[in-house]
Amino acid sequence: MRKAVSIVTLGLAAVTASMLMLAQRPAAPKTKAAFDAKGQLKRPEGYRRWVFLGAPLTPHGLNGGKAGFPEFHHVYVEENNLNAFLKTGSFPEGTVIVKELTRVLNPSFPDGSRNEPSGRGYFNGAFSGMDVTVKDSKRFSGTNNWGFFNFGHHALPYSDWAKESSKAECAGCHQSYVAKTDMTWVQFYPLLRDGDITK
Ligand code: HEC
Repeated sequence: MRKAVSIVTLGLAAVTASMLMLAQRPAAPKTKAAFDAKGQLKRPEGYRRWVFLGAPLTPHGLNGGKAGFPEFHHVYVEENNLNAFLKTGSFPEGTVIVKELTRVLNPSFPDGSRNEPSGRGYFNGAFSGMDVTVKDSKRFSGTNNWGFFNFGHHALPYSDWAKESSKAECAGCHQSYVAKTDMTWVQFYPLLRDGDITK
């Protein structure tokens, strides 16, 4: 009987010791970015419940009927990475930023707008595309520490995986204009630009 107890005690001590060792290990950076062996990014999940940063809109009506992105651009980031940005002015390693597009809702005027009780304007229609940026200074040292991925510019469903887009397709433009604000258009998102004044 006594032997059995001591085996249990020893077992518990071993478990406690290994838990302590785990706790002492430096925490791996938290990230929602998962890559396969070819460096393709898995489509992030759950992002519509991350923090919403803003929704730039560049409709056909203001771009001669030929806007490259005639949709709302909904931008999301996880709260822990937002908090770090607000403290330090740059995003931590592993940060994922999602920009999801939605069409404008059933236009009734040639400029894409429609009348609603609140006025004539643009309202959110169907989801229509997804771009993602990931901060990883090892993988993406050639493009200012950020990787760029496109999961489709069309109605749902999007691709499950995306390969890194070329510098010409994406990073080049961000690098030309917003390299100093961590490759992100901080000036368009009130929370990043002005901070959280509600706190
Ligand atoms: C010609 C310049 C240009 C190119 C090329 C470009 N972007 Fe952007 N990107 C912008 C601008 C401007 C914004 C912010 C305003 C907006 O969404 O209209 C933006 C915003 C974003 C955002 C939201 C976070 C942020 O940085 O503000 C993501 C994510 C993004 N782009 C990813 C991509 C990906 C992926 C590609 C390539 C498939 C790409 N971009 C190509 C100009 C560009």
